Amino acid sequence: MASVFSSTLPSIPRWKSLRNSLRFAHNPIATLDQYISEYGPTYEFHLGGMVRGILTTDPGLAQHVLQKEHRKWRKSPIQTERMGHFLGNGLLTSDGEYWLRQRRLIQPGFHRKRLAALTTIMNREIDEFLNSRFEPALATGEPIDMSPMMMELAFRVVAKSLFNTGLDEEGLNFLGDTVTILQGFITRTFRQPYLIPWLRFSGQYRKHELLAEKFEKMILERIQGRRASGERHDDLLQMLLEARYEDTGEGMTDRQLLEESAILFVAGHETTANALSWAWHLLARHPEAVERLRREHNTVLGGREPAFEDLPRLEYTQQVIDEAMRLYPPAWITDRLCVEDGEYGGLPLPKGSRVVIYIWGIHRKPGLWEAPEAFRPERFSRERKGEYHPFAYMPFGGGPRLCIGNNFALMEMQLVLVKMLQRYEMSEVPGFEPGLQPLITLRPGNGVLVQVEKR
Ligand code: HEM
Repeated sequence: MASVFSSTLPSIPRWKSLRNSLRFAHNPIATLDQYISEYGPTYEFHLGGMVRGILTTDPGLAQHVLQKEHRKWRKSPIQTERMGHFLGNGLLTSDGEYWLRQRRLIQPGFHRKRLAALTTIMNREIDEFLNSRFEPALATGEPIDMSPMMMELAFRVVAKSLFNTGLDEEGLNFLGDTVTILQGFITRTFRQPYLIPWLRFSGQYRKHELLAEKFEKMILERIQGRRASGERHDDLLQMLLEARYEDTGEGMTDRQLLEESAILFVAGHETTANALSWAWHLLARHPEAVERLRREHNTVLGGREPAFEDLPRLEYTQQVIDEAMRLYPPAWITDRLCVEDGEYGGLPLPKGSRVVIYIWGIHRKPGLWEAPEAFRPERFSRERKGEYHPFAYMPFGGGPRLCIGNNFALMEMQLVLVKMLQRYEMSEVPGFEPGLQPLITLRPGNGVLVQVEKR
């Protein structure tokens, strides 16, 4: 492919990155968008004024790094070491040979057909949540903030999909709160790396390490309890317990099971919760899309509960989810570190280069998308899906490290949208703006207020 760059990139002066680092910490998307308008779609920068990198919104470069030349690239130490320090060495945070072996072991358990068994757990959890947590909140008649609601729902769905038994309310709440606190802390160390020495000195680091240890202990007890009971359940823990390495025929140790489960907790709820919150924000503003969803749900389901086999037929529901994740990609940015010299269309990519793939920017890039700011679910219809570059839409990343939970998440989101629309009317709260809070995932800054009524 012909290069769109010369071999030297526009570069943001170090002093400018440093001067803007506070602004970046508070409002990264606005800062990055501003840089793109000044310096173009791919430029050099210094994260927090310190770490040098290349930021890109070129889907070709994203594909080059994540897929075509993936052997020359590793997850950056930010993801592996700093997240791994608190969250353990699971699929999201491991790398190299170890990651590949784990990915091969776990991948079959996330195959769509294997997930069918989870539909029952998901449907039950959604109903329980709506009955016991969501509906009581409707009684006041006040608008509902969907963001914490979806966070709690998605956490319960992933927790129960992992541990169908053995987690009481107290345990669920502790795990949910801990994940939120740890993520907040880790994000702070990414954004403002110059604070790390102070965080260590003030005891903040140790405090969060102790919390992570408590979290691990709780999960480990559940794993050991299941092993000892000899019971079989149709959940993700069972899948992890039964997975066998091809070469040795052995399963994972308790430590490995712990690390992989902890990562599924972390990777599997906030992303999905944000995607759902953003979908409600968009649907509240687009009653015509809600009308179309209702027609589809009536035709396919006629009022009954969605089953696994129904999901492929709920095409427009899927398109709404796709479009919500295009406009608001929960994983809005990712990065990789080069471990072997290479080049992309004339752009030298020497060992040590760091490439930051700005997924938000790619998803809203004029030229890649017609009317990029507009909510148009039809752009994801079956007939039109081939119209865009394969890496112009990458909510789940791409290449061998594509999100392993993508089918799990899509299934869960379809079930939630269908079940909630079967029960409720949703409408916009006039004048409300959700704002943006891009932490590790893209959260709404002010929540997502929606007027909800029982149908
Ligand atoms: C809408 C929901 C979700 C989104 C947008 C999302 C997005 C992503 C993205 C972009 C990556 C790749 C990160 C990178 O390459 O740097 C990823 C990886 C991962 N995701 Fe998801 N995810 C979602 C839901 C889930 C769920 C439900 C689970 C588990 C139940 C999950 C588990 C993982 C794991 C384990 C990885 C690491 C895979 C590997 O490196 O081998 N995700 N996710």
